[in-house]
Amino acid sequence: MAFVELEVKEHIGVLTINRPEALNALNDEVIRQLDQVLDSLDLSVLRCLIVTGAGQKAFVAGADIAQMSGLTKAEGEAFGKLGNDVFRKLETLPIPTIAAVNGFALGGGCELSMACDIRLASDAAVFGQPEVGLGITPGFGGTQRMARLIGMGKAKELIYTARNIKAPEALSIGLVQAVYPAEELMAEAEKMANRIAGNAPIAVRACKKAINDGLQVDMDAALVVEEKLFGSCFETKDQTNAMTAFVEKRKHDPFVNC
Ligand code: CAA
Repeated sequence: MAFVELEVKEHIGVLTINRPEALNALNDEVIRQLDQVLDSLDLSVLRCLIVTGAGQKAFVAGADIAQMSGLTKAEGEAFGKLGNDVFRKLETLPIPTIAAVNGFALGGGCELSMACDIRLASDAAVFGQPEVGLGITPGFGGTQRMARLIGMGKAKELIYTARNIKAPEALSIGLVQAVYPAEELMAEAEKMANRIAGNAPIAVRACKKAINDGLQVDMDAALVVEEKLFGSCFETKDQTNAMTAFVEKRKHDPFVNC
């Protein structure tokens, strides 16, 4: 049973969590399949990955509550580690990732979207961390990524109150970068992905690494991270191609990813 599907459109991958009968809820099998699909990505071809949910109603409605309901303390910790490890793999994927949030993004679903680089939402999307209403904390990185993305005060408010928010509020607090009519969401996500894919792939990856790694260290160390990655770009054919074309006042050849 394919709970996670991957469609490749030239340089763009579209990864779909496909369990619509349970609003794409994440049980351990779905998470393991997500792990396998992430491992299988051909990063010599792909330049951007879109993550979305099957059906009209949900992106992902959270971790599977029925499966979690009987867990022991040790099993709960292991389930959290399983989700955290896979979401971290997604977060540190060398290529950019866009969450196309097409409906409910609750609990583990909101956390999945926050493990992506960019969040685009349909006007029907709903975000939230309802865990404290279920007697647990967020378990797939929500306490950490939400505070980093929207600030500690707002993250604490949303997590302590377990209040769900609709797309316009998610936009206003910076949780999502844009909101589109539902029927336009995937086309807009692909448009952005294709725009990213049209830029020099090694430089784009270096930008992702510089931002992600730089945010983990102090400013002096962060600027060194950038300097090293900036320097490494000057070894690439894509840099020579683009800058030579600029100097010669012509369009550069297509980027070749080396
Ligand atoms: N886990 C398991 N099954 C789920 C699910 C979840 N998180 N969310 C929805 N489903 C299932 C429902 O049980 C239902 O299954 P049946 O048809 O077999 O009864 C089916 O999906 C459709 O759901 P509803 O009938 O509930 O649909 P609705 O439109 O009435 O409500 C909803 C939609 C508001 C999203 C509601 O389903 C809901 O509240 N879901 C749970 C959301 C939630 O609390 N998520 C957080 C989980 S905890 C977590 O994620 C921890 C973590 O950080 C790792």
